Amino acid sequence: MAFNEWVCEVLLQTEAALSAILPSADIEPIRLHRAMRYAVLGGGKRVRPMLCHAAGQALGAPGQLRDTAACALELIHVYSLVHDDLPSMDDDNMRRGKPTVHIRYEESTGLLVGDALQSQAFIALSSDALDVHRKAALMRELAYASGSLGMAGGQALDLASVGVRLSQTQLEAMHHMKTGALLRAAVRMGALCGNGLSADIEEGLDVYARAVGLAFQIVDDILDVTADLTTLGKTVGKDAANKKPTYVSTIGLQASRELVTQLRRDAHLALAPLGERGLRLAQIADLVVERMN
Ligand code: IPE
Ligand code: IPE
Ligand code: MG
Ligand code: MG
Ligand code: MG
Repeated sequence: MAFNEWVCEVLLQTEAALSAILPSADIEPIRLHRAMRYAVLGGGKRVRPMLCHAAGQALGAPGQLRDTAACALELIHVYSLVHDDLPSMDDDNMRRGKPTVHIRYEESTGLLVGDALQSQAFIALSSDALDVHRKAALMRELAYASGSLGMAGGQALDLASVGVRLSQTQLEAMHHMKTGALLRAAVRMGALCGNGLSADIEEGLDVYARAVGLAFQIVDDILDVTADLTTLGKTVGKDAANKKPTYVSTIGLQASRELVTQLRRDAHLALAPLGERGLRLAQIADLVVERMN
C-alpha cells in the first residue's frame, strides 16, 4: 500500500475510534461533552496515532489493540493542546483551523475538557480486552510521558522560560519533555502492543523516536516563523510574541533546518535493526521533516 493510502486509513480509523470512545454529545453534561468532541474530532495530523500504528504493525500488534493505544495517545495530546492554548499558557485563539476551545466555549470549559480527556485516555486503555500486564505497561508508559517528567514538566519549563535565553542543551531538554515524550510513548506503546521486543530493536526504536520527537518540535518552531494561519490552522508568530525561546530564536532558521535534516538521517539509521519492517516509521520521519519546506 502506498504511504498516503496508509495515512488515510489511519486517519479514518482513528476518527471513527475516537468518536466511539468519546461520550455522546447528548449525554449530560452536554456542554462539556460537546466541547470534548469539538476539540478532538475533525482535525489534527494524528502523528501520534500514526507512530503507534507503524511501530505496532512492525512488531505484529493486532489492529484493535493498536487503535486503543493510538486513541489514548491522541486524547492526551488534545488535552495538552487545549490547555496549551488557555490564556494562562500560550493564550491562543485558533487551533486546527477553528477557534480554540476556551474561545468557542469558555475558559473553565477549556480546563475541564483537558481534565476529562486525560481521564478518557486511561478509561480507553483500561476497558480494552487486554491482559492485565500489557494494560499496566501501556498505562504506565502514557502516564510517565504525560506527567511532570514528560509533557506537563516540559510545559512547566516552557512557561518558566518566557523572556529567558536558554542554552541549546536546555532547549533540547525542554523540547524532549514537552513534545518528544509523547511521541516517544507513541512508538513505545505501539511496540508494546506487539509480540515482544529484542534489545536491539527496542534501542533502535528509542533512538528513532527521540530524533523524530525533537525534529517535530523544531519544525513546529520553524513553522511558527515561516508558515501562515491558513496552512497551519493556528496563529503564527506566537512564540516571538510570547517571548518563548525556540530553536529559531536560539540557533537561527538555517541552523534549525540543518539540524532537522540531520535528525531525519539519525532517525532513518536507527531503524536498521527493523529492516523492511521499519518502512512506515521511516516514511513518518520524512513526513514530519518535509513539513518544514
Ligand atoms: C502541536 O502538535 C503541538 C506540538 C506538540 C508541537 P501537532 O502539530 O501534532 O498538532 P495537531 O495534532 O496536528 O493539531
Ligand atoms: C506545545 O508546544 C507542546 C504541547 C505539549 C502542547 P507549542 O506551544 O509550541 O505548540 P503550538 O505551537 O501551540 O501548537
Ligand atoms: Mg506552548
Ligand atoms: Mg502553544
Ligand atoms: Mg509551537
